[in-house]
Amino acid sequence: MVLPVVLSVIVDRKWYVVLSARDVGLAYGKTVALAGASVTVAEGSVVALIGASGSGKSSLLYCLAGLLTPDTGEIRFDGVLLNGLSEDDRSDLRRKDFGFVFQFAELVPELTLRQNIALPLELNRWRRSARKQRVDELLEQLDIHQQADRRPVQVSGGQAQRAAVARAIAHRPRMLFADEPTGALDSVNGAIVLESLLQLAKVNRTSVVLVTHDRAIARRADEVVEMRDGRMVGSE
Ligand SMILES: Nc1ncnc2c1ncn2[C@@H]1O[C@H](COP(=O)(O)OP(=O)(O)O)[C@@H](O)[C@H]1O
Ligand SMILES: [Mg+2]
Repeated sequence: MVLPVVLSVIVDRKWYVVLSARDVGLAYGKTVALAGASVTVAEGSVVALIGASGSGKSSLLYCLAGLLTPDTGEIRFDGVLLNGLSEDDRSDLRRKDFGFVFQFAELVPELTLRQNIALPLELNRWRRSARKQRVDELLEQLDIHQQADRRPVQVSGGQAQRAAVARAIAHRPRMLFADEPTGALDSVNGAIVLESLLQLAKVNRTSVVLVTHDRAIARRADEVVEMRDGRMVGSE
C-alpha cells in the first residue's frame, strides 16, 4: 500500500515548515544588516542562529518575529506572507502565536513575577481561574514560586530570566523567539534558563529560534545556522 505511506510522510508534522525567511534584505540607512538571509524552521524544532556580533542575527530574528519589516524578500508563517498582513493582523499574530525572550528579562518593573507571567494570558483573554492555574504551574516548573510575589528588582538575574521564559511561553505560542536569552547570566544560571526554555518548548510543541554566539548553547539545537555579513555562511 503506497498511498498511506505517502500520506503519512506528507502529514508528518516534523517536516512541516512553520516559519521561513527567503532572501531577506534589511538596511539601517547605509548599514546593511541583512543581505539575502534565508532560513526555514520545522514545526517543533529548535533552530540556533549563530555568528559574530554584527552578523545580523538579531535583525533576522526581529524580521522573523514580525517586529521589523524587511526591505526585500519574504517571511512566511504557516505559509502566510507576514508583509502581506495589516499591522493589526500582524500584532494579533504576535500576541497569540509568538513569544519572546530577550537578553535582559525586560519584565515590567512595577509588577510582581506572577503578574508579569500573567500578562500574555490577560492579553489573550484567558479566564481568571485558567490564568491562575497556568501561572502557578509555570512558577512551579521554573522553580520561582517562592519569588512569585516579588518584583523583578527583588529577585536574582537568573530568577528574573526564568520569569521571562515563563511569560514568553505562558499562552502556549507556536513560536518562541529568543535573543541571547542567557547572555547576561553566569554559566550556572545560563544553563538552568536554557534547559527550562528547551524543556518547556518541547512540552508545548513550540518551535524555537534561538540567537546565540555561544557554540555550546547552539549544540543543544536541532539545527544550527551560521550567519556572516547578513546572510547564511555557505550561501555567499
Ligand atoms: N537600530 C540600528 N540602527 C543602525 N544600525 C543597526 C541597528 N541595529 C543593528 N544595526 C547594525 O546592523 C548590523 C547587524 O546587527 P545585528 O542584527 O544587531 O547583529 P547581531 O545580532 O548579530 O549582533 C550591524 O552592523 C549593526 O551595527
Ligand atoms: Mg544581537
